[in-house]
Amino acid sequence: MPTQSSQSSTALNSFAPRLLDWFAENGRHDLPWQQHQTDTPNPYIVWLSEVMLQQTQVITVLPYFARFMASFPTVQDLAAAEWDTVAEHWAGLGYYARARNLHKGAKQLVEVIDETGEFPQTLAGWEAISGVGPSTAGAIMAMGLHHYGVICDGNVKRVLTRWAAIDGDITKSATTKELWALAERLTPTENSGLFAQAMMDMGATLCTRSKPACLLCPLKEDCLAHAQGRETDYPVKAKKQPKPSKFSDALLIESVDGDILWLQRPDNGIWGGLWSLPLQFVEKVDGKTSGSTAKKVEANDDKPSNVPNDVRSNEKVYEAEFTTAEQIINEWLIKNELVAKSVSNTLLDDAPIKHSLTHFHWYLTPRKLTIDATQVTELNQKLAAAEIDFKWLTEQKAQDSLGLPRAMVKILE
Ligand code: ADE
Repeated sequence: MPTQSSQSSTALNSFAPRLLDWFAENGRHDLPWQQHQTDTPNPYIVWLSEVMLQQTQVITVLPYFARFMASFPTVQDLAAAEWDTVAEHWAGLGYYARARNLHKGAKQLVEVIDETGEFPQTLAGWEAISGVGPSTAGAIMAMGLHHYGVICDGNVKRVLTRWAAIDGDITKSATTKELWALAERLTPTENSGLFAQAMMDMGATLCTRSKPACLLCPLKEDCLAHAQGRETDYPVKAKKQPKPSKFSDALLIESVDGDILWLQRPDNGIWGGLWSLPLQFVEKVDGKTSGSTAKKVEANDDKPSNVPNDVRSNEKVYEAEFTTAEQIINEWLIKNELVAKSVSNTLLDDAPIKHSLTHFHWYLTPRKLTIDATQVTELNQKLAAAEIDFKWLTEQKAQDSLGLPRAMVKILE
């Protein structure tokens, strides 16, 4: 294996003991989901926390984890919960597909438990659960069951590409294979859970992306990137294309009693299963929307982006896209000649909110429109006839009782 030969067998064999010594002294030992030291590990806790920690930092996850454990202390509680309750607990944590997978995964786990009397006991058994990839499955095996398990998530990849100076693109499968082989070679057969937690801590606290604390690192003597002073050149990752932009109006359609119309987003799209104001995609002439006045929503479901403040002219302009519900609303607004009114008379704020998602930036402009009781009835009939899930709730009630994506909360604010 080419990678392994880039490090001596002495270096490979002493990797785990050095890491574990460092972890014993300097690691985090008080995270509420840590199960590697308990006598009776709880796989539910490890599974739940690992799904939350995919793409999200510990500090952000902590309060969410506490709320989930308080409301759903067992996997059976989570499986039996209504989706809206789960969504409301997840709202703000980002990457909502994770929440849907979590809920589905809970039901799958309960099925396995009902059949076998226990949580899955094999790597393949865990990988069969929605939202559980190979690294999460390895973490659960090691930390949640105290079986042998190997992890190779983003943090581990950063540590290993640096230590062994692996310069292949980590998005390529050949590099992924090489990294997994190295992670397996380094993981001790005893205490793989402790090793997994130590690797995570190393990646999160010392071997950080931009300013690694090499002087404190137990692996610095044989870290090949450190020897070359090239730590931050690793991991090598193909440059991403700049993200395109979409522009939408977010309609606050208000009844005379002060309730606002909310729609549940279809399961298979952005914010699937969460509740949103009706959105109307608008086409913009390039450069017409000035991002300099845009308020950025700090979407923690996104890596910090280096995209300049203004909307650049080379960004793709999207055609109109509507969900069925939005199409019905749009047609109804046009028919009632309410569109122009909403746009020109009741503009709340012409500064759009900029919400950055994985594949695009989304500029959302809130627009308010009040309709009378007859119009509410008519609109309700149209939505009900199409079996749309909708609710009329005040801003406050919506915030308290619905799973709202962060961008919606920002609009309400
Ligand atoms: N990131 C992913 N899993 C983690 C864990 N168990 N502890 C800390 N950070 C993590």
